[in-house]
Amino acid sequence: MDHNKFLEYVQAENKVEPKDMMPEDYRKLLVRQISQHAHSEVVGMLPEANWITRAPSLRRKMALLAKIQDEAGHGLYLYAATETLNDGTVNADRDSAYSDMLAGKAKYSSIFNYPTLSWADIGAIGWLVDGAAIMNQVMLMGNSYGPYARAMVRICKEESFHQRQGYEILMTLCRGTKQQKEMAQQALNRFWWPALMMFGPNDDASPNSQKSMNYRVKRESNDSLRQRFVDVTVPQAEFLGLKIPDENLKWNEERGHYDFGDLPWDEFMEGLKGNGPANKKRLQTKINAQKENAWVKEAAVAYAEKFKNVTT
Ligand code: ACO
Repeated sequence: MDHNKFLEYVQAENKVEPKDMMPEDYRKLLVRQISQHAHSEVVGMLPEANWITRAPSLRRKMALLAKIQDEAGHGLYLYAATETLNDGTVNADRDSAYSDMLAGKAKYSSIFNYPTLSWADIGAIGWLVDGAAIMNQVMLMGNSYGPYARAMVRICKEESFHQRQGYEILMTLCRGTKQQKEMAQQALNRFWWPALMMFGPNDDASPNSQKSMNYRVKRESNDSLRQRFVDVTVPQAEFLGLKIPDENLKWNEERGHYDFGDLPWDEFMEGLKGNGPANKKRLQTKINAQKENAWVKEAAVAYAEKFKNVTT
């Protein structure tokens, strides 16, 4: 396939569909990113699932359960979108992609390697983590690969409910007792920097960005999305009466944006190497779940086999 023609095609805002011709590195870039994104959705269920049995009321428990189920659904759309890229040259089928994640060969978002220590962390995850995810995923609604772009539309709608339920948890805590407000502040202190790191390394240290932008997968850079996130989130923190844990955070009149401090990139790199606070626990939980629930898959396959020739 003519590479320049393909670039012209995607840069003119046309969509690529599964059976279309595409350069191998475009296919590989998509399999890498979409499968990592799928892994993030399913690993992301774990820190929140930690609080299902301890949610403070039935209403909170129902909302949390619904949100976690949404994340499972997002994982399924994204594994399905990854599979549409399977042409035998890449590991795009669901089992291979998932096994790569369990073996520690494929990444998932760094944010899910942090523990959830209090109920306020569930609020902070909805507000900050889902808030950051939306910022990135609204951009991805316009990406050049049709199945990925379409999956993003529904995912973004659901993520915006997640963001609101998180913010509302924190609003309730911030209007509660002194201890509840302090719990909210501690959660913000824990999740602020990890949430900013979700957008990935700085632009000058992001090896995939240029190609991804040329192929119209990424539409905005890591730093520009991070800046937008800071700009919209600071006033939300002020409304809650919480303090962002960054002494260098300051409105810059000239730039029309907030300036903020350096991110703890060493911590990010350690997480990527598998040494974050909860990396090992997350992977072990998923490995155990796969073993313990293997019988469900086997039963479903046996059932399908048994009735394959039966017509109704
Ligand atoms: N956590 C873990 N790994 C990360 C993160 C992160 N927050 N940010 C970047 N990386 C990895 C990249 O995957 C890449 O590694 P690889 O080359 O081995 O795949 C490396 O760091 C360098 O980063 P970039 O060159 O900037 O990578 P890329 O262009 O793919 O940009 C980004 C990273 C922005 C995360 C992009 O992949 C993306 O938009 N992904 C889809 C959205 C997504 O996965 N969101 C996860 C959270 S969604 C949720 O809340 C469930």
